Amino acid sequence: MALVHRARADRPAALVARRVRLDHPDGLDPAWNPRFPELAFAADGVSLLMPYAEPYFVRTIRSVLPELEPGLRDTAAAFCAQEARHHAEHRRFNDRLAAGRPAVARLERWMARTYGWLERRCSTRFSLAFAAASETIAFSIARWADRHHHEMFDDVDPTTATLFEWHLAEEVEHKSVAFDVHAALDPSRSRHVVAAATTFSVLAWFTVLTTFTLLFGSGRWRSAGCWLRLPRWALGIAFVTLPDLVSSLLPGHHPSHLADPPGLVAALRAMDAESPHREPPHPEA
Ligand SMILES: [Fe+2]
Ligand SMILES: [Fe+2]
Repeated sequence: MALVHRARADRPAALVARRVRLDHPDGLDPAWNPRFPELAFAADGVSLLMPYAEPYFVRTIRSVLPELEPGLRDTAAAFCAQEARHHAEHRRFNDRLAAGRPAVARLERWMARTYGWLERRCSTRFSLAFAAASETIAFSIARWADRHHHEMFDDVDPTTATLFEWHLAEEVEHKSVAFDVHAALDPSRSRHVVAAATTFSVLAWFTVLTTFTLLFGSGRWRSAGCWLRLPRWALGIAFVTLPDLVSSLLPGHHPSHLADPPGLVAALRAMDAESPHREPPHPEA
């Protein structure tokens, strides 16, 4: 019960599903970051996972909505609406990536089998812990991306940059929701630990695999700079993600204790000011 009360006290005031629809060009280059193509390849790996990971989280959280108290139920429904839009936009982006690249399509089939297996074989409580830990990782990646905004987005096509920036910013905005749902329904810390290790491993494995697939498929593996920078990016992300993930497993932790990345918060405010894309949260979105 104490967990439920903690979650209620720290919940954000409101979440909205933003109307975002991006038109990516045919023949999208997976190396869409001209300065650091290997960084684009790693982001492509994360993008490829989204249409399999996020629907799993959405179905899991929707399945427990009736068990939640009304305030958290509404917030969780709005969270699901945001995630549904994320993976729909990544689906359209990924279709461009996979066109004419059978290796990418093969990776996607493997991702689909992996998340399908997790959803079929794991309990709802484990899936909730998996979603909560995955959201912690998403928030950590957002913090890293905010600090490396110039490397990530300078000279990048604005449509591609918007996809990743919008998604990361909403990950910041709803950073507490999956954690609160998990905390409200499952006191098992050991399940949370196993779920965190599992989601980190799956995410890291597929991101590395996609990066290498695209590096070798594009011939960019011949660039010495890529091999010098890749370990630096990987270690930098690990040094942000792993401490956040470990601290999320400790007693007394709540995502609201973590400082939001200011650049992404400002980007979301700017999006809201510029576009009439705000909609009231809808449980069935
Ligand atoms: Fe998302
Ligand atoms: Fe999320």
